[in-house]
Amino acid sequence: MELSTFDSLRYQSPFVLLAISLGATSALRFFLLVLKCLYVLFLRPSKNLAKYGRWAVITGPTDGIGKEMAMEFARKGLNLVLVGRNPEKLNKVSAELREVNSAVKLKTVVMDLSDEIQLRVLIDAVKDVDMGILVNNAGLANEDPVHFHQLGEDTTMKIVNVNLVAPTMITAALLPEMLRKGRGAIINVGSGSTDLPSFPFYSVYAGTKGYIKQFSKNLHIEYKQRGIHVQCQTPNLVATKMASMFSCSFFVATPSQYASSALQWIGYGWHCKPYWAHSLADYLVGTFLTENVINWATYRIINNIKKSGPEDQKM
Ligand SMILES: NC(=O)c1ccc[n+]([C@@H]2O[C@H](COP(=O)([O-])OP(=O)(O)OC[C@H]3O[C@@H](n4cnc5c(N)ncnc54)[C@H](OP(=O)(O)O)[C@@H]3O)[C@@H](O)[C@H]2O)c1
Repeated sequence: MELSTFDSLRYQSPFVLLAISLGATSALRFFLLVLKCLYVLFLRPSKNLAKYGRWAVITGPTDGIGKEMAMEFARKGLNLVLVGRNPEKLNKVSAELREVNSAVKLKTVVMDLSDEIQLRVLIDAVKDVDMGILVNNAGLANEDPVHFHQLGEDTTMKIVNVNLVAPTMITAALLPEMLRKGRGAIINVGSGSTDLPSFPFYSVYAGTKGYIKQFSKNLHIEYKQRGIHVQCQTPNLVATKMASMFSCSFFVATPSQYASSALQWIGYGWHCKPYWAHSLADYLVGTFLTENVINWATYRIINNIKKSGPEDQKM
């Protein structure tokens, strides 16, 4: 007579039963994790962004991720304050935004974020508008991988100013108005480099992004009860001018692919990696590789890119 599954389990040793229960629990947890990921990445509805306010302020909207995020905001009917350093590029992107949505209202603010920034100009630009969202997107990295001692004072200061000082001071300038209204969202564009244990040859860039991540988390905790949602988004590779040595592939998003997922995450959690293939890459790396192996591989990969770069940076 054949034994039922239940009967056959009854005759197993406690050790085998323990192993079976652990296996079943792990399989169930993995299944639930997959279901949760599928829901979060593909099915969860995006927030109604207009509830934060009818206007969004975005830095670095003239290229790459920022430009595509501005396009997505315009498609959703949000008016925009565009903060960039190049008036011609600001005019060009404004024309493209009007083609996307002719009803959208636009203001431009010319500001070089690597310099001492004129916050008063920005505060004046948003004074009469219902500003709801701030996206601190503008960013700067060394063009090629270099050792810290090769980076130079000027580039170091520029990276620190654009990636760290500017978002901090712009947030400080615009937050009081959000607090007064009791609503708002602040999106700080960080970097996937801070989700890895190390990112050599881009130490200042990754260091500033590490600050942005921690800064965002603290502000999130500090202000969520007051209606302000602060979030740090940490993309991996996106095929933009900044990541010019990479072209689009399974793990390298196009700016528009990235931007549409970036908007879907606004309002959900203090930290996210919006593009699904980036999350998958991080899951695989974090699950199957140890920290030492990741450090070794990251060093090797970036050092190889460095060796194929300009002659004076090969050492
Ligand atoms: N691409 C990636 O793989 C990647 C990965 C992780 C994180 N990120 C982050 O994503 C954000 C956007 O980067 P991206 O890839 O879109 O780079 P991008 O194509 O180089 O665009 C950068 C934007 O920032 C602006 N900007 C740079 N320096 C500025 C300054 N001194 N003053 C004012 N604006 C300035 C640029 O203006 P111009 O048009 O005038 O140059 C441009 O609009 C950055 O914070 C970056 O760190 C990118």
